[in-house]
Amino acid sequence: MFRDCSSCNNYLLTSLFTQALIKRMTHSTTSLTHSPRIEIDLGKIYRNTKRLNHMFLARGISVMGVTKGVLGSPPVAAAMTAAGVGYLADSRIENIKRIKDAGVKNTFVLIRTPSMGKVRQVVKYADISLNSELDVIQQLACEARAQNKVHGILLMVDLGDLREGILPEDMEETLAAVNTFKGVKTIGIGTNLGCIGGVTPGQDKMDELSRIAVTLENRFKIRFDLVSGGNSANYHWAEESGRLGRINNLRIGEMIFTGCSTIDYSPVEQLETNVSRLVAEVIEVKQKDSLPGGTVATNAFGEIPVFADRGIITRAILEIGRQDVLPQGLSPVNDMEIIGVSSDHVVLDSKEHRVKIGDQIGFHLTYGAQLSAMTSPYIEKVYLNSGEYI
Ligand SMILES: Cc1ncc(COP(=O)(O)O)c(C=O)c1O
Repeated sequence: MFRDCSSCNNYLLTSLFTQALIKRMTHSTTSLTHSPRIEIDLGKIYRNTKRLNHMFLARGISVMGVTKGVLGSPPVAAAMTAAGVGYLADSRIENIKRIKDAGVKNTFVLIRTPSMGKVRQVVKYADISLNSELDVIQQLACEARAQNKVHGILLMVDLGDLREGILPEDMEETLAAVNTFKGVKTIGIGTNLGCIGGVTPGQDKMDELSRIAVTLENRFKIRFDLVSGGNSANYHWAEESGRLGRINNLRIGEMIFTGCSTIDYSPVEQLETNVSRLVAEVIEVKQKDSLPGGTVATNAFGEIPVFADRGIITRAILEIGRQDVLPQGLSPVNDMEIIGVSSDHVVLDSKEHRVKIGDQIGFHLTYGAQLSAMTSPYIEKVYLNSGEYI
């Protein structure tokens, strides 16, 4: 029931718009019989995003919903937007373009520092990009002037994880130079931890980021819109810290999809797990030996395979392989076991399960496996429960 007031009418209009958008985006001829397929539960994505957004906002931290784990899927982007995030972020400008072309409205952030070759698309499709190189920022400024825009810059500082980022001692000089470029505006600073170096985004690192932000703000007499402290790995710090300092933004992907902490992979209370599921069909079932017959050397991937001797087992072959999905990230929904993977096949020990040709086998996915399955052109993308968040 909606009361007759303008904010409710706005809500109703937004809901109707979202409903029509999702219907258009998720309409396809594929169904739950098609395989291989990845099923993505939009209801779970909506609820996880909403709960995280609510929890972080209560602490003064805005959220960028990161869509790279689903190849910039427009229905997922629409679900995150409906859940209230004020930014959508992706590492690929092509994904951002796909989301915008589908009609999703939000503020778009490119979270991989841009290449020179993509500067035109970055200015065209992203409102903000993460940056660490003056030459690139200068090109962005030049292109933004040509497109009659002002492009937002989030300057990245490297606090020890050793991926992208300006060294702390070079931040002041870099910002001074960026301030001379017309066409770009530094809307804030950010850092990324818990990635290449696996450095934990604890209180020490967040204090350091805050200190850098405050020093720059005082030196240049400005106030940054965003001080972006990191990614899903920051969850525990954000939840527990009594000292958030100047950190007022996080970029969250993995947690929305896994419902788990990315530090120890434990499920987070209030979040739903198993947001996506992979389904593939059985193309051969035979009773065969568990050990290869003959002299064993390297397999097709340069590895020497090792198998446990279980005698004769039921081996079920599925129509997916390494070309479709990261096999280490698959775990069968039922009590079966993956015992071998080639580029086009996954071989299961079906154990106590009676499996026959044509059966469809389901798998839970890690974030990495979900990302790879979404990238495979051979796997159909099927969206479930789009009605649950409208
Ligand atoms: C710069 C940056 N920010 C945020 C994220 C999101 O990380 P996560 O999926 O762990 O939340 C990533 C990785 O995808 C990233 O590279």
